[in-house]
Amino acid sequence: MCGIVGYIGSKDCVPLLINSLKRLEYRGYDSAGLGVISNGESQVIKRKGKVSVLEKDLDQITLKQPNLGIAHTRWATHGVPNEVNAHPHFNTDKSLFVIHNGIIENYLTIRKGLQSLGYDFITDTDSEVIPQLIDSFLKKGYALVKAVHLALSKIEGTYGLAIVYANEPDKLIAARKGSPLVIGVGNNENFVASDVSAIIAHTKHVVYLEDGEIAEIYKDKFYTRTLDEEIIDKEVHKITMTLDEIDKGGYDHFMLKEIMEQPLSVCNSMRGRLIADKGTSKLGGLEAVEDKLVQSKRIVLSACGTSWHAALAGEYMLEQHTRIQTEVEYASEFRYRNPIISPDDVMFFISQSGETADTLAALREAKIRGALVLGICNVVGSSIPRETHAGVYTHAGPEIGVASTKAFTSQLVILALITLNLARKRNMSLIDGKNIVKEMDLLPKKIEQILKLNEQIEEIAEEFKDAENFLYLGRGYNFPVALEGALKLKEISYIHAEGYPAAEMKHGPIALIEEKLPSIFIAPQDSTYEKIITNIQEVKARKGRVIAIASESDKNIDSLVDFSIKIPETIRMLMPILSVIPLQLLAYHIAVKKGLNVDQPRNLAKSVTVE
Ligand code: F6R
Repeated sequence: MCGIVGYIGSKDCVPLLINSLKRLEYRGYDSAGLGVISNGESQVIKRKGKVSVLEKDLDQITLKQPNLGIAHTRWATHGVPNEVNAHPHFNTDKSLFVIHNGIIENYLTIRKGLQSLGYDFITDTDSEVIPQLIDSFLKKGYALVKAVHLALSKIEGTYGLAIVYANEPDKLIAARKGSPLVIGVGNNENFVASDVSAIIAHTKHVVYLEDGEIAEIYKDKFYTRTLDEEIIDKEVHKITMTLDEIDKGGYDHFMLKEIMEQPLSVCNSMRGRLIADKGTSKLGGLEAVEDKLVQSKRIVLSACGTSWHAALAGEYMLEQHTRIQTEVEYASEFRYRNPIISPDDVMFFISQSGETADTLAALREAKIRGALVLGICNVVGSSIPRETHAGVYTHAGPEIGVASTKAFTSQLVILALITLNLARKRNMSLIDGKNIVKEMDLLPKKIEQILKLNEQIEEIAEEFKDAENFLYLGRGYNFPVALEGALKLKEISYIHAEGYPAAEMKHGPIALIEEKLPSIFIAPQDSTYEKIITNIQEVKARKGRVIAIASESDKNIDSLVDFSIKIPETIRMLMPILSVIPLQLLAYHIAVKKGLNVDQPRNLAKSVTVE
């Protein structure tokens, strides 16, 4: 949430910062701003709206060749999105610029204290106290680095910060507590950013800042210290992500590109991890904790949003095949009800970004309670994999579209691999294990087949684009898919949609059924098929319109429903990986037909780094 980028070097940093900021726009896009410094002079420009709005007015920057600067794209927490509340925030003479991602919890107290010293505040944000507080220490004669340390010792809350000061134009300061930040190490130039996608066009060498660390960055060196000012040596990591991976690759939207990439992303998630002759899987990241995992009596899966839906499907997989008691927890609720977690428990935290504040907070709570904490994450080097005892990367590749698609199917693949591995070590036969391996191997081809239905799904989207409500219904493994399908539609098309267990429909939602309410049934021919057909008939009897996601061999369903989308079959455990894909495409096409920005839906951000 909120994108931060900063530069120090010899180049004109304005175009560089704007291009980097565009790559961070998925983190927030309600306003954007830029603060630059050249020869001890400073200039700031901010605009409400997307980075492109700011870009149009860059000719208003009169400074020649500024080579130090910071930029920000905002997702508002305190104060409406407008020009004044946009970042950078500054001190009274605009010599000091600060960009902030996070929430300052004690900002009202700090603001009052500063007001009593004569400081004026012009924004409604919590962030504005930071430059003013630093300024109060600068005025006492402290140098910038010391003034930042002193200010941060007074601040409670979370922050990712980038700071520049016209009177000390040789340095850029970055600080982290709860909001991600990386330093990009270049050749006679250095960067700071919320994530590596912003800077990979310039360097592949990065340093991940940890909570409680402050970096003093010059163009040719940098120092990192703790809040107590102790110097710490940091490892420089080489990243493998390429620029192509984070471009649209000819598609109109990242979301469509990412949906279409799923044959490959699912393949990448499995690559080198299936052992065909032994009917099992191998997950290097979990080997060290394998014994504890196999013997565990209870597994808890925790996540938010789409990742929580993957966790729910994971619960079904683990319980069906390993017979280990498994539970699913909303990470956002976990800390607020004194959960029963003991050192015997194993907890998995599932997250695409690896930075979700609620998931991180739950992870820390589980760690305090002594559980073995494991991660299933997509973004390499992000906070969750760094804080867990062990874990698995999904390797879905960068996901830029705000609505999660390929990350979800890859999470399901990893959960299936973990299930297979544990089940084979506990009670699953070689034949059953080999069958799962065979079915997993076939997934990329089957996904390709489903993606060929794109045009048919687009036609269905045309038919239903004006509906105001949708019901998504599924049983067993297809219930999490119903939840995920409804979430996809809600977040990008702003149509109200509810995911429900199909059998629960008759306990309430059936009252909603009428001609104008389409119901989407996820109805493959599995053990719940006969029952779900009964539910479809209940809807039809009440004049409801039905779209069914059905098995390709199902010849009967067409006469019962208004539209059917026929997909290949697989074993129950893997079915969500296939059945969710038509729902991703349906949500996509409905949103596009409504003229909405599918990659940057209103009010949302890709990486939710506030609780
Ligand atoms: C929905 C979506 C969100 C995320 C949720 C958790 O499309 O993207 O619901 O799934 O915010 O994010 P991660 O997986 O990054 O922890």
